Amino acid sequence: MDKFYHIVTYGCQMNVHESEKIAGILSELGYVSCDSMEKADIVVFNTCCIRENAENHAYGNIGMLKKLKAAKRDMIIAVGGCLTQQMNKADVLHEKFPYVDIIFGTHNLNKLKDFVIEKQHRKKSIIKIDECDGSVVEGDNPLRTSYPNAWVNITYGCNNFCSYCIVPYVRGRERSRKSENILAEVKSLVDEGYKEITLLGQNVNSYANGTDDIPFYKLLEKVAAIDGKFRLRFMTSHPKDFSEELAKTIADNPKICHCLHLPVQSGSDRILNAMNRRYTTADYLRKVDILKKYVPDCAITTDLIVGFPGETDEDFEDTLNLVKKVDFSSAFTFVYSKREGTKAAEMDCQIPEEVSKKRIMQLVDLVNEQTRNHSQKFVGTTTEILCEGVDEKKGLYLGRNEYGRMAYFKSDKDVVGQFLNVKVESANGVSLYGEVVK
Ligand code: 5AD
Ligand code: SF4
Repeated sequence: MDKFYHIVTYGCQMNVHESEKIAGILSELGYVSCDSMEKADIVVFNTCCIRENAENHAYGNIGMLKKLKAAKRDMIIAVGGCLTQQMNKADVLHEKFPYVDIIFGTHNLNKLKDFVIEKQHRKKSIIKIDECDGSVVEGDNPLRTSYPNAWVNITYGCNNFCSYCIVPYVRGRERSRKSENILAEVKSLVDEGYKEITLLGQNVNSYANGTDDIPFYKLLEKVAAIDGKFRLRFMTSHPKDFSEELAKTIADNPKICHCLHLPVQSGSDRILNAMNRRYTTADYLRKVDILKKYVPDCAITTDLIVGFPGETDEDFEDTLNLVKKVDFSSAFTFVYSKREGTKAAEMDCQIPEEVSKKRIMQLVDLVNEQTRNHSQKFVGTTTEILCEGVDEKKGLYLGRNEYGRMAYFKSDKDVVGQFLNVKVESANGVSLYGEVVK
């Protein structure tokens, strides 16, 4: 009889890909995926601690499993992800949720197989959190769930220590995979039929820094030179490390999508300095100009934080002005979340919640307006999309164009994984609607 696993993922793309690695390990143990916790023999929570709401969300969900566990004693509950790597958090989790069987971290994810086998033979909880030893684990065997898209880690960890961010503390120092391993992985993914490859790292532009391996733009060139029709994306780029060479590389290699995620965080130089971002708004705008010079049609997306400690109305105005100047294709907007252990958590003048709320609403309005306008520009044009799946509710196929816009369309045959030309008839927010043309 089949044994089932269910994974709950919180946070970013990095975590989504780590969940694929967890799924790979569980399937090696003979588990099969299922869509509910009730049915599962093992439930894994892949947590995120970047913002408080993701953390609270995980606590809420783990708490809700207490009853189910009492009724289904053999069910294994495991908690991993970057939340468990935070100082003392594994012990706090164990105390709060003693019925959790396995607590593991991001640095020992590859040992989950041993932990599950061990747990099948013992009663006591297993709590194993490793410090980052600077090594790069190779030979993962992820069970990919996003065909035709595939995610490929190129760096792990981060050295930037932006003052608000917990990532460098929980994911350790930046380390890069060897380019030959990355190239081999992408080649085999393309051979398997994947059509979109996204290279992942907290700060991809500093790939291989301080080593004798090739720099990021060269890595991109080499990946783009792999035979076959596929799209190439990468994230995240830190503005301080974004170079003219990279802009040229995007322009010169048709497989690289004209879409760049370049988080600016704030439009105020004072706040950027306090955030330890190591660029000014003028530097950022210069980089945008360089990008536009080489890749005039490049869609630029960003991350923005409001309510950083000490942010005044003027600072916030500066952010609105910068957003207006750059005219982002879309943006993720966040309310600053205080993370214990970071520099910003100790700063005076934490901003009252109601002020942050007002600011984020204003910012979201502006960003949505820009997004709508960008979508509207596609109406009447024909755009190449890569079909990713079906929206069951809408009864339509869906796929993104190289600029990251999602298009919905009808098809009477299965076209998942195919490149298609879609004539856009209308746009609604971030979504385009149209029909397939030859
Ligand atoms: N509060 C709010 N947003 C944060 N981010 C990172 N840390 C925090 C925090 N403490 C956002 C940044 C980053 C994105 C991945 O998450 O905008 O670019
Ligand atoms: Fe966090 Fe800054 Fe590193 Fe991004 S670059 S992960 S925001 S410390």
